[in-house]
Amino acid sequence: MKVLVIYYSMYGHIHRMAQAVAEGAKQVEGTEVILRRIPETLPDEVLEKMGALEAQRSMDHIPICDVDQLAEADAIIFGTPTRFGNMCGQMRQFLDATVKLWASGALVGKIGSVFTGSATQHGGQELTSLSFHITLLHHGMMIVGLPYTFTGQSRLDEITGGSPYGASTIAGSSGERWPSENELEAARF
Ligand SMILES: Cc1cc2nc3c(=O)[nH]c(=O)nc-3n(C[C@H](O)[C@H](O)[C@H](O)COP(=O)(O)O)c2cc1C
Repeated sequence: MKVLVIYYSMYGHIHRMAQAVAEGAKQVEGTEVILRRIPETLPDEVLEKMGALEAQRSMDHIPICDVDQLAEADAIIFGTPTRFGNMCGQMRQFLDATVKLWASGALVGKIGSVFTGSATQHGGQELTSLSFHITLLHHGMMIVGLPYTFTGQSRLDEITGGSPYGASTIAGSSGERWPSENELEAARF
């Protein structure tokens, strides 16, 4: 089983979640896990103004994904930060380049799953996963969320991301909060 984990992360939170997703997938015997980043679309000067340049540099060692790599995987797990209740533009642009794969049905029957994050607890992260699923369905993928058998998503003793729609984290308005152990467990699950 070849599992491709691909993500975009501006400040590093989704990067941390992606590492946990990869860790979890690697625990399944016989699974090959490939971790890749989505290409950046913003110039360095914009990233600098957004305070993201340093975080971007720290992720430089993760290779960039090519759309053709999607066809080689059995399962594709996508990570994106929330942008106004939706996926980020970098991910949208990447997915819009998959029309050749769509035309040949290359992703039909593959497993697809989405993990995400947002600044605030109710800032639309469930919508990010659900609206992402639309594209996966157009590709004929079989969607997997985060089953309630991951009981950590039901806990009320601490603030936590994670919903039936997928693993998620809450970054805080200034990115000051990092994925909790519970959220990382959800990503590994
Ligand atoms: C243009 C833009 C739109 C955003 N929209 C939302 C939003 O709708 N809801 C929310 O809670 N956070 C929003 N955020 C915050 C991001 O989701 C947050 O920075 C991200 O999840 C952190 O992940 P990262 O460190 O991997 O980039 C937005 C951030 C930007 C830059």
